[in-house]
Amino acid sequence: MALARLLLLFAVAAIHQLPRSARAGDPDILTDFLAPLGAEPDQLNGSFFTYARLVSGLAGDPGKFTVSKATGAEFPALLGQSVSYAALIFGPGTVNPPHIHPRASELLVVVQGPLVVGLVDAARNGTVHTAALETGDMFVFPKGMVHYQLNNGTGVARAFSAFGGATPGTISLPTALFETDIDDAALEKSFRTDEATVEELKHDLREAPGPAPSPSPSPSSAAVALVGGSALAASLVCAAAAFSFVL
Ligand SMILES: *[C@@H]1O[C@H](CO)[C@@H](O)[C@H](O)[C@H]1NC(C)=O
Ligand SMILES: *[C@@H]1O[C@H](CO)[C@@H](O)[C@H](O)[C@H]1NC(C)=O
Ligand SMILES: *[C@@H]1O[C@H](CO)[C@@H](O)[C@H](O)[C@H]1NC(C)=O
Repeated sequence: MALARLLLLFAVAAIHQLPRSARAGDPDILTDFLAPLGAEPDQLNGSFFTYARLVSGLAGDPGKFTVSKATGAEFPALLGQSVSYAALIFGPGTVNPPHIHPRASELLVVVQGPLVVGLVDAARNGTVHTAALETGDMFVFPKGMVHYQLNNGTGVARAFSAFGGATPGTISLPTALFETDIDDAALEKSFRTDEATVEELKHDLREAPGPAPSPSPSPSSAAVALVGGSALAASLVCAAAAFSFVL
């Protein structure tokens, strides 16, 4: 039994290692849920399936854009479940800059509007589909498509986003382009601009970094400590190492 379990763990780890840089979505699991390594599934209680900090940890600065996530990294019970959540607060005039989620579609519901959203259909002439959402409205951002949200009103706006994956991932375009080590010469040519402008963009992003993250939740168990501190991209690999299948 122990050997079978170990072999299965290695198999899962191998599967998780293989195409991880090009993963298009969460792999399906063959069991109801994944229990932390060392925990017997029938000893788990409701606290394993509870995440109590999504909104309570989101005091945020109402003058900024703040996001609080409950993905597999923060809430390990989601691993394998193909769902996750984020809570978003937009101060007046703030933006969630253009970004993509490589592994999940996003369904946003506005609980305090208005909120303007935009979806870039780069594959079809770069058309930008926008909507001015009011409280109670929803908008879907298909997996892998560039999108943004903008609060152009005078009050705070709030929204929740559901994701069709436990590890949706986020690639912010400003960050990927101007906060990485892409050669300035490549950026100058790509944007048909000069070194001074590229340097200015890089400097401005350093001075005013992107979304303010919510305070990290305090790990409450060994499994959370193992998985919670890891980057989103690495979370599944850690999960493979830290979790065993519930048989
Ligand atoms: C539920 O499980 C957690 C983790 O094993 C434990 O700390 C907690 O005391 C348990 N709660 C109840 C009500 O049994
Ligand atoms: C989109 O691009 C295609 C190919 O370049 C072109 O034939 C088509 O007319 C364009 N459509 C719109 C709405 O601009
Ligand atoms: C915000 O943008 C929407 C959509 O473009 C527009 O209808 C609305 O008038 C704008 N609101 C303000 C306060 O500028």
